[in-house]
Amino acid sequence: MTFAPVLNCPSVPLSNGLQIPILGLGTSHNGGYSHDAVVYALTECGVRHIDTAKRYGCEEELGKAIRESGLVRSDLWLTNKLWPGDYGYKAAKKACLDSCSLMGAECFDLYLMHWPDSWQPGCSNREMRAETWRALEELYKEGVCRAIGVSNFLVHHLEQLKEDCSVTPHVNQVEYHPFQQPIHLMEYCRREGIVFEGYSPLAKGQVLSNPTVLHIAEKHRRTPAQICIRWSIQNGVVTIPKSIKKKRIQENCQVFGFQLEEGDMATLGKLHDGRHVEYHPFQQPSEPMEYCRQEGIAFQGYCPLAKGQVLSNPTFIQVAQKYGRTPAQICIRWSVQNGAITIPKSTKKERVVENCQVFGFQLEEEDMGAMIKLHDGRHVSWDPTNVE
Ligand SMILES: NC(=O)c1ccc[n+]([C@@H]2O[C@H](COP(=O)([O-])OP(=O)(O)OC[C@H]3O[C@@H](n4cnc5c(N)ncnc54)[C@H](OP(=O)(O)O)[C@@H]3O)[C@@H](O)[C@H]2O)c1
Repeated sequence: MTFAPVLNCPSVPLSNGLQIPILGLGTSHNGGYSHDAVVYALTECGVRHIDTAKRYGCEEELGKAIRESGLVRSDLWLTNKLWPGDYGYKAAKKACLDSCSLMGAECFDLYLMHWPDSWQPGCSNREMRAETWRALEELYKEGVCRAIGVSNFLVHHLEQLKEDCSVTPHVNQVEYHPFQQPIHLMEYCRREGIVFEGYSPLAKGQVLSNPTVLHIAEKHRRTPAQICIRWSIQNGVVTIPKSIKKKRIQENCQVFGFQLEEGDMATLGKLHDGRHVEYHPFQQPSEPMEYCRQEGIAFQGYCPLAKGQVLSNPTFIQVAQKYGRTPAQICIRWSVQNGAITIPKSTKKERVVENCQVFGFQLEEEDMGAMIKLHDGRHVSWDPTNVE
C-alpha cells in the first residue's frame, strides 16, 4: 500500500500534552457511511484524524476501513463518543470497551460524553454526568482513552463537572460554523484549558450558498467548503467536516496552502445568526423523539401552533391552500402524522372544531419534509436552557 504525502496539517495541544490534528474526517448516521471514502481519505488524502460515535452505527465498518488502509494505528487520531443511553459508571465503562472491541482498537485517542442530558430516570442529569465522568476518568488512567472530553456541554455543565470531578475535560466538541459561533463558550473553554472542537463546519451544507461565503471563495479561487473549513482552522478550532464523496473529501483537505485575510475572517465572523443545524440540548427535539420511541415513551408535543406564530408562515399557508385546509389544521396534522400526541389550545368554539378536523386527509411526504425544514430552534414557551 502506498500513501499520499501526509497533509501539512497542524495540530492543537491538549492540556495533557497530546496533539490533536486540527482537521479530521467526520462520520455520521445522517447521509450514510462509505467504506471506500474512508479508505480513500486515509490512503490518498493523508487524513490522520477520524471522528465517530456509537450513535452513528458505523464503528465496525470504520474499524475495517482503518485496517484496510494499512495505516499504523499510532499514526491515526481516533475519536469516539459515549451515547447517553450508556451513561452511569458501569454502563459507560462497558460501552467504551465494547466500542473498542467493535472497532478492533486497543484504545481511543479521545472519548467524549456525547450529550449533557442523561435521559435516565431517578437520577439528576448533574449526578449522572458526574458518575459517568468518573468512569471516563478511570478509563483515562487505565490508558483505554488517551484523552477524555465532552460534547455539547454548555458553561454551566462544565462548571458543575469542575465541582464534582477531578480531571478537566481535554476537549469540548460543539456545533461551530459561521452561522453558529458560541463565542462565550469558546472563551470559557480557552480559559479553562479545554480544547474547543467544532462540528458541522459546513452547517450541513447550509453555508455553502451564502453570498458572503461565495464571494470570499471566488476571491481566493477556492470552494465555499474550503473557505468555511479554513475559517475554523484559522480560528484555532479543531474541525471535522463530513463527506462520503471522495472528491469532496479531497476538496475539504486542501485547506492548508492559503490564508484568509483579517478582513475575510471578520466578515465571516459577522455571519453568526444563532442558527443550529444539529439537535441542541435546548432546541430541536428530533433525537428525544427518537429516543422516546425506542424506549416506548409516548412523545407529546405542546404549542403545536407555536402560539400562533406558524400560522402566517408562507410554507404553511401554501400547503394549507393545496389541501383546502387551514394553516392550523396543517400544523396539527403534521404533528399527528409524526406520531406526536398533540394538544392545541383554543377558547373559541369554532377554532376547537377546526382543530379537530385533522383526520380526513394525509399530508404527502414532500410536504412533511418541507415543514421539517422550517425548524429554526425558536422556542415560544418554556426553554430548558435554564434547567440544571
Ligand atoms: N458531537 C455531536 O453531537 C456531533 C453532531 C453532529 C456532527 N458531529 C460530527 O461532525 C461531523 C461533521 O458534521 P455534519 O456531518 O453534521 O455536517 P458538515 O460536515 O457541516 O456537513 C456535512 C454535509 O455537507 C456535505 N458536504 C461535505 N463536503 C462538501 C463539499 N465540499 N461541498 C458540498 N457539500 C459537502 C455532505 O454531503 P456528502 O456526505 O454527501 O458529501 C453532508 O451532507 C459529523 O460527521 C460528526 O462526526 C458531531
